[in-house]
Amino acid sequence: MESVLKAQRGGESVLDLSPRWTVGGGVEDVYGEDRATEDQLVTPWTVSVASGYSLLRDPHHNKGLAFNEKERDAHYLRGLLPPAIMSQELQEKKLMHSLRQYDLPLHKYMAMMELEERNERLFYKLLIDNVEELLPVVYTPTVGEACQKYGSIFRRPQGLYISLKEKGKILEVLRNWPQRTIQVIVVTDGERILGLGDLGCQGMGIPVGKLALYTALGGVRPSGCLPITIDVGTNNEQLLNDEFYIGLKQKRATGKEYYDFLHEFMTAVKQNYGEKVLIQFEDFANHNAFELLARYGTTHLVFNDDIQGTASVVLAGLVASLKLLGGTLADHRFLFFGAGEAGTGIAELIAIEMSKQSKIPLEETRKKIWLVDSKGLIVNSRKQSLQHFKKPWAHEHEPVHNLLDAVKAIKPTALIGTSGVGKTFTKEVVEAIASFNQKPLIMALSNPTSQSECTAEEAYTWTEGRAIFASGSPFDPVEFNRKRFVPGQANNAYIFPGLGLGLVISGAIRVHDDMLLAACLATRLPRPADLVKYAESCMNHEVLLEHVVFHSGRKELMTDEDLVVVFSYSWRNECFTPSHGVEACAGLKNTGTRSKGKNNTTNI
Ligand code: NAI
Repeated sequence: MESVLKAQRGGESVLDLSPRWTVGGGVEDVYGEDRATEDQLVTPWTVSVASGYSLLRDPHHNKGLAFNEKERDAHYLRGLLPPAIMSQELQEKKLMHSLRQYDLPLHKYMAMMELEERNERLFYKLLIDNVEELLPVVYTPTVGEACQKYGSIFRRPQGLYISLKEKGKILEVLRNWPQRTIQVIVVTDGERILGLGDLGCQGMGIPVGKLALYTALGGVRPSGCLPITIDVGTNNEQLLNDEFYIGLKQKRATGKEYYDFLHEFMTAVKQNYGEKVLIQFEDFANHNAFELLARYGTTHLVFNDDIQGTASVVLAGLVASLKLLGGTLADHRFLFFGAGEAGTGIAELIAIEMSKQSKIPLEETRKKIWLVDSKGLIVNSRKQSLQHFKKPWAHEHEPVHNLLDAVKAIKPTALIGTSGVGKTFTKEVVEAIASFNQKPLIMALSNPTSQSECTAEEAYTWTEGRAIFASGSPFDPVEFNRKRFVPGQANNAYIFPGLGLGLVISGAIRVHDDMLLAACLATRLPRPADLVKYAESCMNHEVLLEHVVFHSGRKELMTDEDLVVVFSYSWRNECFTPSHGVEACAGLKNTGTRSKGKNNTTNI
């Protein structure tokens, strides 16, 4: 065979021939065909026209049975769909019905992820219209289980994986992502996923889930969102020994190696997407989280959701609960169980706000806040051995070794759980705080539900219905003494989509504490009856435009009023308007040279 070809080619062996480029960038071989089965070191590139069969498999434009007759003709869909036409509303009804048939939340999660892969706009429509029901599915607590089982439920990669293998090439990796205009990146290194510990590369569920909320609650277009998992290894032995583990099978890189890698990442992001891309750090372990925030807070538009987002939403909750508790922030005494990212982040924002309100110096307001970590109450005598972020909270007191004794010694009016350790607000602890407070404020913030310091039912029962309770993961309403109690949810999901949207649309280039305070205080401003109308009228308002255009990145940028605008605008989600698919496809229709009946991919 080879000799026949040699003769035809004037003595050249086919193996000697150098490949020739095709018009579309493919490689033509001696048979005149692309070398589809061979290694292609030169990337073939094509521009696909999203119509026909490929349109139905394109989640960004697919509408499934919602394509109407006109669209089916225009986009070469005749015969590719059953004849019934189903409105988006009917599709939604059908999907919600089938989702509700699943007993296991993980199965609902998987069904939702499949929907996102199939029909992105329908996914967001479901999420937006049924946010209370579906938030626990795509977010905490179910996302925790999904991350734990990510290896086995993994079907198609979501987001961008940047592992140590890509060292020196991170910019190239970013350029592999199909979207060029990115507004928000949520990044994790998977070391502290919720309260579940080191899940390595499987932490990807978190940036994916958080960004779904950026779209559903914040209105940021899905194409502007980029979930990233940095894989520097894992110290989770179970994963290292799991043959199906999807990440790097090595111990975590630390120290210089870790920070050099992260620096390459941060530099590449700015280089590729510019100064105004928002980077949200998620679920990094505290020994890196504070350091990364300190390093990049002054050079990039970054915030750490666990430290700052949580602080903002919890302070909003505290300010709201003062209506029931009475007094000002400075009249209360706070005890935290857990002194990590969430605990110290919330504590600092409370102290800042207290200081602003009461004009008492920050060093003094901090003294109204006490923290307990795994070694007991944080007191002065421990100062030398404390991590730097705990030091401001080391007050004068004799050592106290456990939570119950700390509650009895400090007599807090508010008890806040940020330990990641479930069932630690025991009956004794809750009864102790209830013994000296008419209305004890109890916040069990640890996620997922299994790590919650106590349940809503326990809080209400053990305080005989007197507790004001909120938790990180949702709990159902509780009946106690024939009264119905609806627990609050204090989760940063209630702040980061609005805060992030505000940062993005304002063109800010740094995040300041004032913005976090404005965001949390905005939540108590009156909510207009018709948010959409109000938002639309405000978006054209010259005041906002002036802020956006002229004051970008300045710390005085966000007034309470602006934040209301941002929040209200965030409810107006354009990304799934029913005609979107038609327009998108119509826009593409003229770019190719295809003719009806031929295949749908055009090489140019
Ligand atoms: P972290 O690891 O930075 O801090 C945990 C803290 O708890 C450390 O100070 C540690 O010493 C302490 N701790 C651990 N075991 C303890 C024990 N047995 N007794 C006393 N203290 C103990 O973690 P981070 O980021 O602060 O998160 C903690 C928890 O808070 C997690 O479950 C996380 O899911 C939850 N969280 C909830 C948020 C929300 O929006 N509701 C947001 C961020 C975190």
